[in-house]
Amino acid sequence: MMNLTLKVWRQANADAKGNLETYQIKEVSPDMSFLEMMDVLNEELIEKGIDPVAFDHDCREGICGMCSMFINGEAHGPDRLVTTCQLHMRKFKDGDTITIEPFRAKAFPVIKDLTVDRSSFDRIQQAGGFVSVNTSGNTQDANAIPIEKHNADKAFDAAACIGCGACVATCKNASAMLFVSAKVSQYALLPQGRVEATDRVLNMVNQMDEEGFGNCTNTGACEVECPKGISLENIARMNREYLYASLKG
Ligand code: SF4
Ligand code: FES
Repeated sequence: MMNLTLKVWRQANADAKGNLETYQIKEVSPDMSFLEMMDVLNEELIEKGIDPVAFDHDCREGICGMCSMFINGEAHGPDRLVTTCQLHMRKFKDGDTITIEPFRAKAFPVIKDLTVDRSSFDRIQQAGGFVSVNTSGNTQDANAIPIEKHNADKAFDAAACIGCGACVATCKNASAMLFVSAKVSQYALLPQGRVEATDRVLNMVNQMDEEGFGNCTNTGACEVECPKGISLENIARMNREYLYASLKG
């Protein structure tokens, strides 16, 4: 069991100033997930009549991309290739001080405490992160279209992006290039996605810029902190797609 000091970002609403509050938490099991530890903290705060800490979560199994948190200066904490819900307290030691902040970026404004508004990602997706399918009854079976194994694997790897925003929170420029490039690549590599490829990349990149994300300067920090191991190679692919689409358009 561990006794820990938590320094948690408390911010009542988007316009409030916000500050780090210190809480002591006792008897934390190393087998708890980070979010379970936060649940225990919140139960204690509620018992004391203090407003519990607001944080995002949904599936708690590394799929939905809802959980966030910047833990000791790292998006999703000190472990590699895991989301905050899959981070375990065994990664910390008895007596540790853990600083917990929201994902910070202009395009992710704080709603309350550790909860940020990531609807900018939704708007980028809506700008082109889909394939239009005519469902009139004459649709071709997708499995009837041959796809090279190499491309199918790469498309699948890109599709593993859960839209968590850790790449943005980690990047010193708050760039969303890793996220957008994964969403562009998962279609660009497949014949079904080629039909709308030109419009897709132009529209998604334009929306990304409109939302106020920064420029990519190839620091590579996003790839290190991405819980799904999305490769920088997707950014290079998106840049090629964008250049081709700009010349064509
Ligand atoms: S690229 Fe990785 S870090 Fe960025 S949103 Fe997708 S899963 Fe999260
Ligand atoms: S709560 Fe769904 S990925 Fe963490």
